[in-house]
Order: sequence, then structure tokens, then C-alpha cells
Amino acid sequence: MCGIVGYIGDKQAAPILLDGLSKLEYRGYDSAGIAVFDGSRIIMEKVMGRLKVLDELTEGGKTMPGISGIGHTRWATHGSPSDTNAHPHFNKEHSIVVVHNGIIENYSKLKKKLERKGYEFVSETDTEVLVHLLTEYYDGNPVAAIEKVMRRVEGSYALGIMFKDHPHHIYAARKDSPLIVGQSSMGNLIASDVPAILKYTRSVYYMENEEIVCLSKENIRFYNIDGEALVKEPVTIDWDIDAAEKGGYEHFMLKEIYEQPKAVRDTISPRLKNGEVVIEELGMTDEEIRHTRKIIIIACGSAYHAGVTGKYILEGMARIPVEVDLASEFRYRNPIYEEGTLAIIISQSGETADSLAALREARNHGVRVLGIVNVVGSSIAREADNVMYTWAGPEISVATTKAYSAQLAALYLLAMKFAKVRETITQEEFAELQKDLEKIPEQIEQLLGMKEKIQRFANRYLAADHMFFIGRGIDYAISLEGSLKLKEISYIHSEAYAAGELKHGTISLVEEGTLVVALATQEKVYSKTISNIVEVKTRGAFVMAVTNEGHEEIEKTADYVIYIPKTNAYFANSLAIIPLQLFAYYVSLGRGLDVDKPRNLAKSVTVE
Ligand code: G6P
Repeated sequence: MCGIVGYIGDKQAAPILLDGLSKLEYRGYDSAGIAVFDGSRIIMEKVMGRLKVLDELTEGGKTMPGISGIGHTRWATHGSPSDTNAHPHFNKEHSIVVVHNGIIENYSKLKKKLERKGYEFVSETDTEVLVHLLTEYYDGNPVAAIEKVMRRVEGSYALGIMFKDHPHHIYAARKDSPLIVGQSSMGNLIASDVPAILKYTRSVYYMENEEIVCLSKENIRFYNIDGEALVKEPVTIDWDIDAAEKGGYEHFMLKEIYEQPKAVRDTISPRLKNGEVVIEELGMTDEEIRHTRKIIIIACGSAYHAGVTGKYILEGMARIPVEVDLASEFRYRNPIYEEGTLAIIISQSGETADSLAALREARNHGVRVLGIVNVVGSSIAREADNVMYTWAGPEISVATTKAYSAQLAALYLLAMKFAKVRETITQEEFAELQKDLEKIPEQIEQLLGMKEKIQRFANRYLAADHMFFIGRGIDYAISLEGSLKLKEISYIHSEAYAAGELKHGTISLVEEGTLVVALATQEKVYSKTISNIVEVKTRGAFVMAVTNEGHEEIEKTADYVIYIPKTNAYFANSLAIIPLQLFAYYVSLGRGLDVDKPRNLAKSVTVE
């Protein structure tokens, strides 16, 4: 979702801005633009479509001289994707220019007021109110004008701003949208995310809400909304740019699918010590774990699907009631908070607007919040009471794979820890679980070996109109994620259904040749799922089943079978999801689609 880059230093800015924006492409966008100070005025280029168009238009930035500038990739919210709605946005005099990520919620009220004062709006964006407001308040002091604007606007924003009067500075501010500042020997930078600037520096400042920054070639000055100077400490990024590059793979998604054994291993192994699950960052005493009465898991998208699995596991293993909710629902549903409730927010990016709002909602009601987060130093990581990191490394493809797998691993550890402390499993059961948990990375590797087989199968379904994923219990949770993976990158309509529920309406959509992917890894309900397979087969469905090794008799019922290695039923998701991810990938590839950057989607959804 919208990406921002800014640079001021001794190198030409435009190529650096374009390069930085290319590293943010994964966030999702539909137009792009840059503005630079060329020595006498601010010049701008912006176009609808891929960054490549802007790159060609400016000959890789060469046609835009100047050593300071700001750039933006836009994911349309207010106003359709177009050249005019693309950022940056100028004021009439071309003396102030702005890029913005987020949504200004009171923009229409502000727009009316500004129009009454004679400001003319050229775009349909909410962002344009910012540039006119800045013009209204600007009296020679940029920081003072930015402060005033911040007090007037409601909503979320990360801003990059340039003032023609101050050619040796660029400015930025944030509230509820991510923004970082990078310090390097060749100048200073701002960006929405680390990959955009990692080529130039590892020294990064995370901006907090309602902070302003002024960058020159040599200096970085932070201010709060009252204009008071702030002292902030930089953080050193310890991962490498290679981790955010494709490294020989055709797509980030495939690379990240292949990185799953490592992501899971890295998440598990530091927390398994001498036969114990040690999660120091949980910050809970055994007493507090014993007295936890309820857990609420809150997340969006695939992280929510990991949460659905988490519910089955935490309830099953640790016998704690677990609610699982979509963050966008939770934040407005006025939930009942009981004493002894633990809220768990799951998020890859740590910046998802609804998840962050849900976190604040829970904390405001005195509920302890644990974040399960992948991006170190992200907003959710910083605002949660405690944070358990998933060590998946940077994930670039919009369709999440390795972060999801690492989230599952974190939930397994948590459930085992709670179960052990609450004595809801025996020492022997715990030891068995631990053995199976440690085997997961190599079992994932084994499943990755079937990629050609899955590709061949996927190629048969490139022209499908719709599909179903069915399962019971944890198999239902796997179905949710398998179905989402497929639809988000292949654009084939797909639904996940609790297998027993299908007959209450949806089965009317099953006809001759409809592909139904049936998950049958849960022994307890295996025979029930087989009955559901028979039901869809009778209506003409073609069934691909995913089940455990040893269930070869399923071949009498299903048309195509994928076997997963033996593991504890609680952990089946980690294995069964692999063929489903590969299936989605190869269907998308076969249909010639943009696997890593599916239409309309954003990696990090920083608006409501
Ligand atoms: C977007 C992504 C999904 C992701 C969801 C939640 O919709 O495309 O892949 O699952 O956001 O993101 P988070 O960063 O909070 O896990």
C-alpha cells in the first residue's frame, strides 16, 4: 500500500528515488511519481501504471537533475488510479509538494473550507487538502506549518514534503502509517520500509506517531507536534539486502515458499531449550499463564487464518477458551473484556491499520496484548505489551507464505507452553509434540520436492471459474488459507467451507468438473470428511484430497491425492499448506499473471 521514498545528499536524487520505489513495489500500487528540486524549482513527473513507465519517461531518472527529492507509489483509495491522482501533489504556485500514505478522514470538510478560501483542487484525492493546508499555514517556517496541519487533519498519514524556499531540506511526518529515516554517508533518506534504503544504509530511525523530521544532507532533526526537538537513537538493521532480493527465483513468492523450512526452524529453535519451550519475551509468569481465562486472537487476512488454527490448538492443547476475530470486526464490535484475558495480535508487517487499532482498543480496556509480529520495530511490535517475533525475514510477495508458516510455528510454541504450565498435557505428550515440532522444517523440505507434480496438476485447472476448499477443524483452517492463496493470485473464484456445512446451500454450486480440494489430515474427523467428499463427487466434482501418509484407501474416493508426512494432528497445517501454496503459485504462473503483485492488493494494508 502506498510507498514513500525521499532523499537529500550529494548524489542525483531521481535514480535513488526510482530505485527505492522499486523496492517498495511489493506493497501494491497503481501509479507512481517523483518530485525533485532541480536547482531553481521543484519539477515533477507522475504516471498511472507500473514504475517501469515512470522509469522510461525519466530515462531512469536522468532527465530530472537535482540532489533532493521525494517519490511515491500510490494505491488508490480516494480517486481512481490516474496520472492526476498520482502523487506527488503540488500547490498552485509549485512551491510546496507532498507525497502521502494513509487516509485523511476529514478531508471533505477541510476541502470545502479551503475551496471557500479560493484554493483550487485538481485531483480527487484526500491528499490534496494537505498541500493546500500547508500553503495556508506556511509563513517561512516549514516545521510550524506541518505542526498546524497535523493538528487539523484526522486519519492516518506518512508524509514527505518539500518547500521550494528550503531547497536544502526535505521534511516528513507520520501518524499511524509507517515511516523510517535512514542516515548514510552519501546523504539522508526517508522511506515506508527498510528494503527501499538498505542499499545505502543500515542505520535507521523509526518515526513514532505525531513526529516530524527535517533532513538535510548532513543532519536529521526530529520534532514533536509542539515543535520541540527530540533525541532519537538509530537502530542497526542486521539483515541483508539479499534477503529482500529474488536470488535466482522467478518470483518472490516461490523464493519465499522455499524459505519456509528456514523460517519455521528460526522461529522454533531459539525457543526450544533442554526439553522446554522457553518464550522469555512472553513476559508472563507461570502464575499468570495459569490464571489466563480467555484468549482473543485478532488479525487480518492470512494472519487471521493462522489465528483460526491457533484457536483449535490452544483450546485443544491448553484448554483455554479462545475467540478469534478479524481486526476490522473486533475494533467496532464492543467486545466483552473479562479479567484474565490475553489478546494476541498476529501480523506479518506489524503495520496493518485494523490490527493496530484493535491492539489499541484492547489495551485501552486494560487487556494485556501479545504481538506475534514479523517486522522488527514495527508499530504493533512497539505498542504491544510483549512481542514474540516470527523469524521469517523480509517477505516481499503480496501473497504471504513463509510469514504465515512462521506464525503457525509461534502459535504451536505458545500452545505447548500454556499446556505445559497448565498441566493439560502429560510430560510424555509434551515430549512427543516437541519431537514432531522439530521435524516440521525437514518435512516441509520433503513436500517442496513435489513441485513438478503440483505444477502438472495446476496446469489442468488454468481455465477454472471456481473452486472449493473443504475440511473440518484444523482442516477447515487450512482450507481458508489454501482458498485465499489461490484466489488472491489466480483471480479464480474460490471458497473455503467447513466440510459439514457445504450441504446447507453451497453444494448447489458444485457441478460436473468443479474442482474441490478436500483436506483430510485430522484423524478424528477423517471418516466424516470422506462422506463429504462422496457428497461432492456424487454431484460431479473432481476431488483433490490432501491427507496423511497411510490413507491410501482414499484413492478409491478422491480423484487425485497428495500425501503429507506423519506429524501430530495439531501441526498438520504446516505441512498441508505447502502443496496448496504451490498449487496457487503454479495456477497464477500458468495464467500468465503477476504472481508477486496481484491486482488491487497491497502487502501492507495501512488504511482501514
Ligand atoms: C494484506 C496481505 C495479506 C496479509 C494481510 C494482513 O491483505 O495481502 O497477505 O495476510 O494483509 O497483514 P499483516 O501484515 O497484518 O499480517
